[in-house]
Parts: sequence; C-alpha cells; structure tokens
Amino acid sequence: MGVEIRVEGLTKSFGRQVIWQDVSLTIPAGEISVLLGPSGTGKSVFLKSLVGLLKPDRGHIWIGERDLPHLPEAQLYETRKLFGVLFQDGALFGSMSLFDNIAFPLREHTRKSESEVKRIVLEKMDMVGLLGAEHKLPGEISGGMRKRAGLARALVLDPEILLVDEPDSGLDPVRTAFLNQVFIDLNAQIGATFLIVTHDINTARTVPDNIGLLYQRHLAMFGPREMLLSSEEPVVRQFLNASKIGPIGMSEEKDESELEAEAKMGHDPGKLPPIPPQQMPSNGLLRSGMHAPGAWCAAHGVTPPPGSFIDDLGRDWVAEWPRYVSSMTPVGAAGPGGPGGQFPGSPPPGPAGGAGR
Ligand SMILES: Nc1ncnc2c1ncn2[C@@H]1O[C@H](COP(=O)(O)OP(=O)(O)OP(=O)(O)O)[C@@H](O)[C@H]1O
Ligand SMILES: [Mg+2]
Repeated sequence: MGVEIRVEGLTKSFGRQVIWQDVSLTIPAGEISVLLGPSGTGKSVFLKSLVGLLKPDRGHIWIGERDLPHLPEAQLYETRKLFGVLFQDGALFGSMSLFDNIAFPLREHTRKSESEVKRIVLEKMDMVGLLGAEHKLPGEISGGMRKRAGLARALVLDPEILLVDEPDSGLDPVRTAFLNQVFIDLNAQIGATFLIVTHDINTARTVPDNIGLLYQRHLAMFGPREMLLSSEEPVVRQFLNASKIGPIGMSEEKDESELEAEAKMGHDPGKLPPIPPQQMPSNGLLRSGMHAPGAWCAAHGVTPPPGSFIDDLGRDWVAEWPRYVSSMTPVGAAGPGGPGGQFPGSPPPGPAGGAGR
C-alpha cells in the first residue's frame, strides 16, 4: 500500500542553468506530501524526474531496491507502472471522449477485455465524481472537470505513487476545496503515496502530512506539516504565510537594499498564526498516513502557536483525536458494505480546513 521514495543528492540542470541541486528527501509511503516553491523553481521538473521522464545530472531516486535514474530502459518502463501522473496541463486528448481518455492507459498497457476496461473506467470516474460525463469531449466540460478526468486517468492502473502537478491552478476556491477533499478521500481509499505540487497556501496548510519547499535551487525544507507550520525559518515562514515580509521578493530574491529598508521600517514578521487542524476524509475511512494533531510538536518540544488545532466549530482536535480515531475504519478494513462509522458531531473540519487561515 504505497511505496516510499528516497531521493539522494539529486541535481538537475539544462545546459548551464542549474534548476536545483543536492535535493535529498524521503517521501513516506502512503502519506500525502505537498511540494511548494516560487514559480520557475523546478517543481514540474522535479515531478518529471521522479517518474523518469527527465534524467537528473546526478543523484539517486530509490524506489525499494531500484534506483530510477540508473535503471535499464526495460526496468524503467516496468517501474513507471507504479506511478500515476496528473500533469500541469491535464494533457487530455481533445478528440477523445472522457471515457476513451481515461481508458487509454488500460488499452495501451494491459490486455484487459473491454468489459473489464469499462468496469475500471466507471469505477475511477465515480471516485472523482464524473459519472454521467463519459461521452463528453474535454472541450465540452469545465476546467475543474478536466482536472478530475486527468486524475481518473492517473488512477486507472492502480498506482502506488500518485504525482499531481498543480491540480488547483485556474480553479475557484470552492472547487479547489472539493478537489482537496477528493485527494484526501482517495488517499484514504487507495493508500498510495501522494505528491502534490500546488501554489495554494490553504491547501498546503490543511491537506498534507508533509510539506516541502523548493527555493533558490535547493530544497529549503521538507518534513511533517507541523514542523513547517511552526518553523521560524524566514523563507518557510514567509511562503507558508503568504507574506510580503521576508527574503522572497517579486523576482524570487530581494536584494540587500530591500531587506535593509524593510529592517529600518521595523517590519517584523509578527507571531506565527495557529496551525489549522488537518482536513479529514469524508468517507468514514481513516488515513494510514495521518498523524495525531500536535504529535509532532509534542515529540519535538515545540509549543504550537496559540489557537492551533481548533476547527471552525471550536473543537480542539488534540482532545477529539482519540475519539475520532476509534470511530473510524482503518484503510483496507472497509468491508463490502463500504466505509464505516461517522464521527459524532461530523462534519469533520473541511472542506476548507479550520482555524488559522
Ligand atoms: N525541457 C526543458 N528544457 C529546458 N529548460 C527547461 C525544460 N523544462 C523546464 N525547464 C526550465 O526549468 C525551470 C523550472 O521549470 P518548472 O516548469 O519545473 O518550474 P515550476 O516550479 O514547475 O514553475 P510553475 O510554478 O510556474 O509551474 C524553468 O526555468 C524552465 O524554463
Ligand atoms: Mg510547474
């Protein structure tokens, strides 16, 4: 159920332009991780490198015993089958119906019968809320539906790893909130390892188990959500709070004089906002990758900002957590009757997250 990706010392350049160097991180199996970074820092290049579409100059991408950049072509082809990818532009075939678009990887990579293909395609369309739109062409549906169709296509081969590049670009906040809920519910259901690239700070603050930030050709930080949301590191702090105050400027880096001017004006970044509770599955399943609210802070002696883990209804999720967990069905335990219990007093936080935004 989901596999770990271990990246070691990864460096990528195009000609003389270094995109990022010495990137090392472990993306935990079955968890949801989000990758952030100013535009042009190489997030899409990173995803394409993970799936083997771009070859890094140096470094390793370990998936189990296999080191992706150094695999012979045939093994790389096999390993790619572990991945489902939703590219930044959706990349649907304009002349094919949604059904045929989503069926494409199955017809291309498997020998399944047409009735089996149909069963799988309809199952995935149901998962992303697209049942009934099978015969539509990509040009006839909204941007949000196209994203979900791309997602259904990324899911048909039952991936162990799901890479998603800016699923929310061009979507309104409500659709983004719904799409986030789709990701969380999917993760609870299929337990795959998710890596989502996004520019949406609310998504980054409330959806993932882990957050990474690419900045100035390096991975500035990667770790549990609570670690980054309680971090005082100026770049991380500025980015995750969408603040103008800090080292990041319009052209990625402010120069010395801008920083000096800010210091003279007495701008200080102020107090950290509360850490919102994490968005929960709405399908009654317990995500295996989810951690107890406040657990990372407690284990690392970090005092979370006041008001952390309290949702819009005023519930403190540190206190609610044990009761919530005991009322949920763990991943894989959902019987034929479907998902299990609902937490009393639901809905859980979301879809737009909780306090502290
Ligand atoms: N195939 C390529 N050949 C040459 N340069 C490339 C190629 N692909 C990407 N680049 C360059 O790599 C840099 C990073 O691009 P990338 O698309 O990964 O950025 P990004 O972080 O995804 O940005 P955005 O948030 O705008 O999507 C850019 O300067 C881009 O021009
Ligand atoms: Mg990109």
